[in-house]
Amino acid sequence: MNGRVVRADRASISVFDRGLVLGDGLFETLRARDGKPEFLTLHYRRMTRSARRLRIAVPVTGAALKDIIATLCRKSRMNDVAVRITLTRGRYFGGLSIDPSVPPSLIITVTPVPPAAPEVRTRGVKVAISSINKAAASGLDPRVKSINYLANIFAKAEGDARGAYEAILLGARGEIAELSTSSFFCVLREKVNGESRDVVVTPPIDTGILPGITRQVLIREMKRARIPFREGELFPRDSARMSEAFLCSSVRGPVPITKIEKTKIGTGKPGPVFARLLELYEKACAREIGAGKPPRPT
Ligand SMILES: Cc1ncc(COP(=O)(O)O)c(C=O)c1O
Repeated sequence: MNGRVVRADRASISVFDRGLVLGDGLFETLRARDGKPEFLTLHYRRMTRSARRLRIAVPVTGAALKDIIATLCRKSRMNDVAVRITLTRGRYFGGLSIDPSVPPSLIITVTPVPPAAPEVRTRGVKVAISSINKAAASGLDPRVKSINYLANIFAKAEGDARGAYEAILLGARGEIAELSTSSFFCVLREKVNGESRDVVVTPPIDTGILPGITRQVLIREMKRARIPFREGELFPRDSARMSEAFLCSSVRGPVPITKIEKTKIGTGKPGPVFARLLELYEKACAREIGAGKPPRPT
């Protein structure tokens, strides 16, 4: 916290912190194994862009962040962790005005990655479609990973009430945007150069989604592997013609979706495109943290 390593049960933040009082701040979540963060450059870039938009100075360089994460992993003796970086506008003095002379608060925590139930990857998950329109609910620039997650919290609550693993948030015109804590992808059978092909489709950033780092890595890997891919608008009614669907986030990686509300996706089992993308993603993670390491266990 603000340059000091503190045990989580002894760490405390001021009751006058603007993050707490006003939800005035941003965060990043990433995974680190053996003290090495995955895709830190991409996370740091998104964090600095968000901070610029919110006019909060980032008090740490990317290199320093890497060292801090390594230190936290070493001191906590954990080798597979979720790293959460929270940056707030610092002390609240009453009123909403921004005072650039007030130092921001930087909190970095590491927690063990909860082991995923094996059936999540082998059988896939069901997701719900929430009634929440993200853009209307937050009024914020969706590219900023703001600490105000109320729209996502209530979307997730709707999903939980229906026994779903995650919940989809819709865009302004009812199009699929993203899920409460992940990005959305699906596979559609389409004509490419006169040939029928499986094409991976994901909603574009201007749907009002967070530019997910896992999404970005998967797009890069698909381009390298020449897997047909496009960004495009998708609506809940398209679920019936999706042969596969999956979600992804930094901590969980890609997770197959086999049901959207009551609609079975494809055969109702994780498909071959998902399997290929999972393999590419795990290889990309292994390259990040050092060649030769086995893929992540979850
Ligand atoms: C709303 C939302 N979309 C997408 C994602 C996935 O982003 P990333 O791949 O950067 O973890 C998250 C992750 O927390 C999220 O909260």
